[in-house]
Amino acid sequence: MIVVLAAVWWLNASSDRTAEEDNASIISEQKSIIIPDFTQSALAGEIAFNGSCAVCHGTNAVGTEQGPPLIHKFYGPRRHADYAFVIAAKSGVRAHHWRFGNMPPVEGITDDKIQLIITYIREIQAANGI
Ligand code: HEC
Repeated sequence: MIVVLAAVWWLNASSDRTAEEDNASIISEQKSIIIPDFTQSALAGEIAFNGSCAVCHGTNAVGTEQGPPLIHKFYGPRRHADYAFVIAAKSGVRAHHWRFGNMPPVEGITDDKIQLIITYIREIQAANGI
């Protein structure tokens, strides 16, 4: 088991302190995450995630300037069922929770890869009580 420190750059990343302030206060609750021992499916999902999603959602899905953290209670199984991940990857997402902008559809993503990515994200979420 490894503990990874998540960057909290967004705390002072913006001069717009309205909605982003809310985002920052939510995200700042989560300063580090626990990386579990992954199943084989999750390891395959990690590779797919790093190839297709990490550019915006960050290594270990802790977020970047281009996309929100998926290791976050917003994206836990009770708030965003697996199907939300399928729709997001295939059709994209209109900005609604944050101010990162829209998520475009992910080119070349397959159903199999999405399922592996979901397994990967859910295993990290579970290790972090999400
Ligand atoms: C070009 C950047 C980018 C890439 C690549 C990207 N995302 Fe996103 N994603 C975003 C942004 C930005 C949002 C937040 C939209 C909002 O709610 O404001 C988001 C939101 C999401 C959501 C939440 C959907 C919802 O219903 O609110 C999921 C799930 C998600 N992404 C999964 C993925 C997965 C899985 C991949 C890879 C297959 C991926 N994303 C690749 C930028 C990206």
